[in-house]
Amino acid sequence: MENSVIVLDFGSQYTQLIARRIRECKVYSEIVPYNISCRELLNKKPKAIIFSGGPASLSKENVPLCDKKIIQSGIPILGICYGMQLITLFLRGRVSPSSLCEYGKTSLHINKKDGLFANLNSNITVWMSHTDKVYKLPSGFESIASTQNSSIAAFRNKEKKLYGVQFHPEVVHTPKGKKIIENFLYKIAHCQKNWTMKSLVKHSISSIRKQVADKKVICALSGGVDSSVLAILLHEAIGRQLHCVFVNNGLLRKDEGEKVVKTFKHHYNINLKYVRAEKRFLKKLKGIIDPEKKRKIIGHEFIQIFQEEAKKIGPVNFLAQGTLYPDVIESISAHSGPSATIKSHHNVGGLPKKMHLTLIEPFRNLFKDEVRKIGLTLKLPQEIIWRHPFPGPGLAIRIVGNVSAERIKILQAADAIVIEEIKKAGLYRKIWQAFAVLLPIKSVGVMGDARTYENVIALRAVTSCDGMTADWAKLPDSLLGEISNKIINQVKGVNRIVYDISSKPPSTIEWE
Ligand code: XMP
Repeated sequence: MENSVIVLDFGSQYTQLIARRIRECKVYSEIVPYNISCRELLNKKPKAIIFSGGPASLSKENVPLCDKKIIQSGIPILGICYGMQLITLFLRGRVSPSSLCEYGKTSLHINKKDGLFANLNSNITVWMSHTDKVYKLPSGFESIASTQNSSIAAFRNKEKKLYGVQFHPEVVHTPKGKKIIENFLYKIAHCQKNWTMKSLVKHSISSIRKQVADKKVICALSGGVDSSVLAILLHEAIGRQLHCVFVNNGLLRKDEGEKVVKTFKHHYNINLKYVRAEKRFLKKLKGIIDPEKKRKIIGHEFIQIFQEEAKKIGPVNFLAQGTLYPDVIESISAHSGPSATIKSHHNVGGLPKKMHLTLIEPFRNLFKDEVRKIGLTLKLPQEIIWRHPFPGPGLAIRIVGNVSAERIKILQAADAIVIEEIKKAGLYRKIWQAFAVLLPIKSVGVMGDARTYENVIALRAVTSCDGMTADWAKLPDSLLGEISNKIINQVKGVNRIVYDISSKPPSTIEWE
């Protein structure tokens, strides 16, 4: 595509963040594997190229190297960390392991305040994460920034438009990182600002149409932001070829099933199958306490139901999922095989292998706030767009211990109060997630003149930008008091409320 930026992926955990920053600068970007041939890359007619960082060390054997011709192509290149070292190696500078590795926030002194570092102060904070460093510049290059540990923390060959930075401008810990990327895109590569959410939606719709042709697509709708935006995007693209299945597992928030049917079936006129399976799930969950077992049972039962429904719909070729980039990286690691599985978020993997369906995942490279922007572009109701994330296993992982119909009812009632009061206080959108958790303990209380021995509810509210890290929300005392009073007075079976003041890490957002 004209005016695009190609990101060569050398395995950095931040590669998707680079692409995201480029999108934020309103420029189209595409990530390609590092070993793409120069010819293939030039066919894409990029206006600029970025080499990502990566975990490898150039002092070792069998490291990822790109086609050397790319560096000689005349297209502006920015190498980040490993990418910078690679440019150095190819152009006969010297890279070696450093005796001091730099990790974390570092002060960068800028020597040349034009081009890449235009409109920045002389000293800025940047985020470093490297062990190798550039010891000798390739010929024709000059150092444009330094740190205490390195006189070549950034370099350039102005004439050939080749740039390198040892730090990571794409992460938020480099506060002026976006400005640096903007400078590269606009001042050096002369990219135009023409890639908007509208273009992204248009592009997705046309590629979904092309891929699906006249076949059928099945989509599991949960009523959450991601699957809702996905369903509307697919509906725009392929209309009645889309078949949504919404399974009420009995673990949803209060009145959620009815709301989903009203919006999608009645308002949007989407092909929607509403499956009432509350009893089925409850039966399978009886006596199950282990959180991962709960997830597996719910995931498995969901697949069963989904398969049964798919059969009824007839030959289906595609399965659409609202998988987001953070779901992908929390469940697998891109280059070094499976990383530690903290929780098995079940929309990654599972269904397709069994059902031989081709996956459509238009949001696989996007972050939640970007999906919300797509929802806004598609004019989805605000209530859906700003909805807090809700886990696939639903209330089962917010009822610590045994799940029963009675405990679900208690939690639904308490949860509805939490959400209502937070909305009333005007804080709903400022908070990433807020919910109630039903604990497996009872506490003594006094109501009227009588002793009570009832359940304890924990309130959880966190701020976050992507759910990968989170801070407990500093809710006003008056709001906490109001929520506590209302739950204790209105929800039968609860006599105590506690507020969870732990952050992620080391805790997680959900209790289970
Ligand atoms: P944790 O608890 O891991 O949650 O900090 C991070 C985000 O993921 C959601 N979550 C899940 N979503 N299936 C899902 O679809 C799951 O099993 C699951 N577990 C946690 C959680 O609500 C938060 O937004």
